[in-house]
Amino acid sequence: MKLLEISGIDTNGAEAVVIGRSMIVGKPMAMLLVAKKSNATVTIAHSRSKDLPAICRRADILIAAVGRPEMVKADWVKPGAVVIDVGINRVPDPSKKSGHRLTGDVDYPEVAPRCAAITPVPGGVGPMTIAMLMKNTLQAARQLG
Ligand SMILES: NC(=O)c1ccc[n+]([C@@H]2O[C@H](COP(=O)([O-])OP(=O)(O)OC[C@H]3O[C@@H](n4cnc5c(N)ncnc54)[C@H](OP(=O)(O)O)[C@@H]3O)[C@@H](O)[C@H]2O)c1
Repeated sequence: MKLLEISGIDTNGAEAVVIGRSMIVGKPMAMLLVAKKSNATVTIAHSRSKDLPAICRRADILIAAVGRPEMVKADWVKPGAVVIDVGINRVPDPSKKSGHRLTGDVDYPEVAPRCAAITPVPGGVGPMTIAMLMKNTLQAARQLG
């Protein structure tokens, strides 16, 4: 939500699709998007959803929280959509010293040219999550003090 806010993305009346229904990401994200402050129309998709690409193509705002490397392809994304990639996946990469690289749930190279905005992995939702955790910790400490 902070990423959307600071990027000036209006959620009011937007069609939002969240892929993933976990208690830690998918459901809370959907609840925040549908809240009266945000006013998006929200669809939550999951592993039993039928025709996921068609559901995703409806989205003005697409949130991927699945844990499947580069699952979301360019033809799943409406041109001009905003894409937030929550996924963190470790895939083998012999060219790296570590033998692996991190990638998101979105095929960034092919999806990015279609989007109005997109978060990279690494360097997108991860650092924002840490920043928000610090903010919440500070707020909690102030409330105690
Ligand atoms: N950046 C961050 O700070 C941060 C924080 C937390 C998590 N993550 C990452 O976010 C991703 C999701 O985390 P999570 O804890 O929500 O994972 P999770 O508990 O495994 O949930 C994954 C969700 O994706 C759905 N799913 C799995 N395969 C699918 C498919 N082929 N098509 C459609 N939906 C599918 C599952 O559906 P079912 O419910 O039907 O099984 C489930 O609802 C992971 O990569 C995790 O590492 C990142």
